[in-house]
Amino acid sequence: MTSRNEPCWCGSGLKWKKCHYPIAPQRKVKEMARDYLGKYGIILKTPKQIEGIRRACRLAARILQETCKAAMPGATTDELNILAHRLHLEAGALPAPLNYGTPPFPKSICTSVNEVICHGIPDSSLLKEGDILNLDVTCILDGYFGDCSRMVTLGNVDHDKKLVTEVSYECLMRSISLLKPGIFIYEIGEVIESYALAHNCSVVNQFVGHGIGLHFHEPPQIPHHFNQLRIPLAEGMIFTIEPMINAGRREAVIDPKNHWTARTIDGRPSAQWEHTILITEKGHEILTTLEED
Ligand code: MF3
Ligand code: CO
Ligand code: CO
Repeated sequence: MTSRNEPCWCGSGLKWKKCHYPIAPQRKVKEMARDYLGKYGIILKTPKQIEGIRRACRLAARILQETCKAAMPGATTDELNILAHRLHLEAGALPAPLNYGTPPFPKSICTSVNEVICHGIPDSSLLKEGDILNLDVTCILDGYFGDCSRMVTLGNVDHDKKLVTEVSYECLMRSISLLKPGIFIYEIGEVIESYALAHNCSVVNQFVGHGIGLHFHEPPQIPHHFNQLRIPLAEGMIFTIEPMINAGRREAVIDPKNHWTARTIDGRPSAQWEHTILITEKGHEILTTLEED
């Protein structure tokens, strides 16, 4: 019988026990989780956590869908906020944005119209024909978080608005299609920014996607722009991708009065779509989709 202390058969020069000594799958999973938490602060999720996060994500997707149906010319973003808030409570969930951060975010969803990049605060202004808007829903169900957003276009929209709406959707879906264990985080931004630049758009780099599940925003950050983050994706990671794509310059300016609303520096339109995604053994699973999609 070979001893665990003998050199490994693979020729690495390491002891067998430090190299290819077979370990129980359960222990392997635990070691990975410890490694990712220690190295990157990333929480690899257990099957039980994944089940809870999946439920929160499905709910977020359903609330988002329902709220989008109410987005029409003549409606106010306040009305959308009230509807979404009620849908959370009816499902036994809480809206994560409400009172989040400093200063506390004052509403239950984000509504970002036209040149607003993200973190638009619902108010009494009327939506009108020709507007585009992003609705962003994050819910907390049984302590688990799910986060998604999408665009709504109201009637006929101009060239720039149509362009950013389509390009941001393509950026999201193209980057998702690449996801599997072993892919590096920088590859996501690479796909997104190349596609955006090829279509004459810019990528916002002041806001990023994020790990999510047990908290609203967890490590890692997921930049949508060119970057060098050599963190390999691993089974059990859950994070968002939420590219913000501008027709003009990439820079965002934060509203000095409410400290939240981010607008394009040149007033040209911006668009964003967001999913929460799980990395699986073979690839990925979009958690914020509805069964019927
Ligand atoms: N849902 C947003 C995201 O995608 C965050 C909104 S923060 C808030 O990360 F405070 F504005 F809600
Ligand atoms: Co998010
Ligand atoms: Co969001």
